[in-house]
Amino acid sequence: METIDGLAFIGRNPLDEENVFIATGDSGMGITHGTIAGMLLSDLILGKSNPWELLYDPSRKPVRAAYEFARENLNVAVQYTDWVTPSEVSSVDEIERDSGAVLRKGMTKIAVYKDGRGACHSMTAVCPHLQCIVEWNAAEHSWDCPCHGSRFDKHGKVINGPANIDLKPIEE
Ligand code: FES
Repeated sequence: METIDGLAFIGRNPLDEENVFIATGDSGMGITHGTIAGMLLSDLILGKSNPWELLYDPSRKPVRAAYEFARENLNVAVQYTDWVTPSEVSSVDEIERDSGAVLRKGMTKIAVYKDGRGACHSMTAVCPHLQCIVEWNAAEHSWDCPCHGSRFDKHGKVINGPANIDLKPIEE
């Protein structure tokens, strides 16, 4: 998981019992944060003060982070409008080979990848994380979710979280 300010959450778990501690949100710095967590949490458990306690406090709300949080959530809210927008293409005939596009199908949207032989592979365009609509990434040949960054290969297999399951295939 990526934290808004890039620092891990290490310390008492907010809204939990006093003796429940967490170390998460490594943001790609797991080895560094893991070492810090070992030092910081052992101090907290032993009741010693530690100069990093407030810095990594899981309940911290830095001003810049609050701004980024609001901005990011506004962005996510905007991405949900993709549910009601029309299809990128009106039919699969408009999709080039080895490319993909999102089509409207009734009340939902489907992601269609057309392979090099012209065969179409359909899957839900609804991201299994929090139900935003994925987009075709023509440069990487992947389906990317604009909300929190999940990525799926051209056949819908998850390659990057927070989503942890594939895009569900749809039989045509
Ligand atoms: S909705 Fe969160 S990554 Fe897609």
